[in-house]
Amino acid sequence: MSSAAAPAHPAPPWLAERLRAAGGAIPFRTYMQWALHDPEHGAYGSGRLQVGARGDFATSPSLGSDFAALLTPQIAQWLLQQPADQSLALVEAGPGEGDLALQLAQELTAGWPELAARTTLLLIEPNPGMAERQRARLNASPLRCRWLSFAQLSARPVHGVLLAHEVLDALAVERVQWDGVLWRRQQVALNQVDQAQPSLRLEPGEALQREELAQLEALGLLDPGLQRPAGWTTELHPEQGAWLQQAAAGLNSGVLLVIDYAHEAWRYYAPQRSNGTLMAYRQQQASPDPLQAPGHWDLTAHLCLESLERAAAAAGWECIGQRRQGEALLALGLAQRLHGLQHQAGAGLDALLTRREALLRLVDPHTLGDFRWAAFQRSSAGCATGSCLFMQDPPLA
Ligand SMILES: C[S@@+](CC[C@H](N)C(=O)[O-])C[C@H]1O[C@@H](n2cnc3c(N)ncnc32)[C@H](O)[C@@H]1O
Repeated sequence: MSSAAAPAHPAPPWLAERLRAAGGAIPFRTYMQWALHDPEHGAYGSGRLQVGARGDFATSPSLGSDFAALLTPQIAQWLLQQPADQSLALVEAGPGEGDLALQLAQELTAGWPELAARTTLLLIEPNPGMAERQRARLNASPLRCRWLSFAQLSARPVHGVLLAHEVLDALAVERVQWDGVLWRRQQVALNQVDQAQPSLRLEPGEALQREELAQLEALGLLDPGLQRPAGWTTELHPEQGAWLQQAAAGLNSGVLLVIDYAHEAWRYYAPQRSNGTLMAYRQQQASPDPLQAPGHWDLTAHLCLESLERAAAAAGWECIGQRRQGEALLALGLAQRLHGLQHQAGAGLDALLTRREALLRLVDPHTLGDFRWAAFQRSSAGCATGSCLFMQDPPLA
């Protein structure tokens, strides 16, 4: 009987086969793309991951409809700034379970019926497994709904609002590592010592080329300094630029609202953050290990605010506001909503306490309240200059 312990990171057969075909190793970015978005094996691609309090991880809209109710006046303001003679679109990229899209459609129809009558809900979801569940959820939508790709949207661009809530954090990142002499791309390699049980490991790969080195220079990392020793690892966001360009091509005029985990560069690339921001989530568990059970865990990395703003500007977007979620929701009336719970005598105590807890979680500075809202606009003739309700002072209670 063999006494060898099972490998820490067994390679599933599909991945072992692809790694062998690739010569034994692939850049981390390719690994993350496959583990999340491969249509058969990826966590999102297969539809395996479930968003929500009973799923793999909760997001703000999955806590209840208060988040959408607070966000809707902001969306209505932006829709009202669009040319009055045009039909409008509310586009959501990466709708997950469809909760936010459905709640926004309901809130807009209830509060702004004339605007809702001009508005179509467009859903952009590259992963068929997720799109299937969204279709079932959005059967109840009071707005007309259509699923399409960015390519289809850019063939017939719209006037309106594009939402990306916890989507950009699912784009594959490049992990880069300082080896004491050079910056290298981190790669995922196959251990084949035991042919019957191949396993995965992370290792430094090729030295970075000019384009990535230029990004490091812009972030002040080209010379990592003595505070970042050999082995210091972080992430770059190579897919953001193309995503933002596709998004820009889809809007004739309007606003893109990105809501996501994000840090300023000084915080993201601080010397003490020696292993980046990459995390894995499954069944409400968080882990810093990206190699366990590939295709069964969500993999996510924070956004770097400066890199996002630079990539957005290069894609033709103008930033019109950026704020922490906690402050944005307070500006949109969260405190009044919390206070109003006291006067909802008809609702059961359990339901009121659950809503109170959800509202507090949305602004908790240690979790969802620290998310960032970043709004960007594309203007055209007849379109008022974008402003943001969420950047204003909170209303007086
Ligand atoms: C974390 S979920 C967010 C779900 C939802 N927005 C929410 O907050 O509950 C990420 C979603 O983005 C989708 N997605 C991943 N990559 C994408 C891309 N390149 N463009 C659009 N959506 C993408 C995933 O399939 C999934 O539906």
